[in-house]
Amino acid sequence: MKISIEEYKRRRNQVLQTMKNGILVIPSLPESTMSNDVNFVYRQNSDILYLCGFEEPNTTLVLKKGEDKNEFILFVPKRDKLFETWNGRREGTVGAKEKFFADEAFENSELKNKLSDWFTETECLYFPFKFNQSIDEVILNSISEAKRQRKLYPVEIINPLPIIHKMRAIKSSEEIELLKKGSKISIEAHLTAMKNTKNSKFEYEVEAYYDFTFKKYGSKRAAYPHIVGGGENATILHYITNDSKLNDGELLLVDAGCEYGNYATDITRTWPINGRFSDVQKEVYDIVLQVQNECIKMIKPGVSFQSLTDHAIKKITEGLIKLNLLEGEVKDNVKEKTYRRFFMHGLGHWMGIDVHDSPFYNLQDKTLEEGMVITVEPGIYIPVEDDIPERLRGIGIRIEDDIVVTKNGNVNLTAELPKTIEEIEKIME
Ligand code: GLY
Ligand code: MN
Ligand code: MN
Repeated sequence: MKISIEEYKRRRNQVLQTMKNGILVIPSLPESTMSNDVNFVYRQNSDILYLCGFEEPNTTLVLKKGEDKNEFILFVPKRDKLFETWNGRREGTVGAKEKFFADEAFENSELKNKLSDWFTETECLYFPFKFNQSIDEVILNSISEAKRQRKLYPVEIINPLPIIHKMRAIKSSEEIELLKKGSKISIEAHLTAMKNTKNSKFEYEVEAYYDFTFKKYGSKRAAYPHIVGGGENATILHYITNDSKLNDGELLLVDAGCEYGNYATDITRTWPINGRFSDVQKEVYDIVLQVQNECIKMIKPGVSFQSLTDHAIKKITEGLIKLNLLEGEVKDNVKEKTYRRFFMHGLGHWMGIDVHDSPFYNLQDKTLEEGMVITVEPGIYIPVEDDIPERLRGIGIRIEDDIVVTKNGNVNLTAELPKTIEEIEKIME
């Protein structure tokens, strides 16, 4: 299952329609070294994936918008028998045209000359600096070269990412199908992990069920490093060490989601290591679960994300007062932001090709629209500190689901993964 060629074309046309006459250039991210001559496994820049699906490193995407025609051009690594024997197949310019429907394709060695030429015909360049230093230099040199020729040159440089990311925030039916498939795989992984926690001794043993299940069902990789935190580790938001012993009587927080067809899923569940929640764990868990369910229920077109956040903050603050972690009036605590000691992250984010999707189109000030996909992930994290009642110290709970905004409400893509105390305890029996 993948995005169709027609959809890629529609996306490029939509970008072209939004552009002034000019040239748009998107570089791939550079490869990065893991060790000596070994690189980290490469993942293409999300905007290149969004606009054409080409996955090889060292690729530059160009869209040209002119008076009478528009063009989609790819600069790609050249085919090389020796390289391909060692490192795998490349598409080359022929593949870029035949499989990815580029109107034109060139080898990377031509990038500087072509851009210098094209820049003499345009005053407007769409380019995101600071993503790939070597392409930044090519762009600046090509501008200087065009200027030297005393014709036109790009006097206006615009960041194209706000245009593209605004589009990325609204998912098509093809994208939602990929997200559904990815969600199913991630749900299966969480279920397998829950069922096998009682017979695991270390966090990494539980983590292994995610790697295995993701790959088994066709996901290429995790959408982000798995967070598998037992006991107090659950209070470290992006804990990825995952090497501690699992202790009887403590909770385990797992935040893990696969990428499927280049689309992320992002799910968190928190469950008891021995299969039974203690009374105090139940108290905190039910506060988080109730807040999460209420926020999800509110999701529909026309609702602002801020109103969901406000609701979550109010309800979590009420809960924290009930737990004797905060004192005084809800209103004053909300105003003073005292809850941030225990709930220090946002309620959610867009999700899509990036797990924290559309970074140049901020969710926090938006009103929800049909086709948007967001996470809802309230949490309570209680530090081990002297002024905290002993029974509550070190409890960390987050519950996270992935929600599509529909015409009249929403669909929870990850609803099939149990989250009530009764359901979780039953699965772990
Ligand atoms: N997995 C990172 C997050 O929930 O935002
Ligand atoms: Mn998450
Ligand atoms: Mn998330």
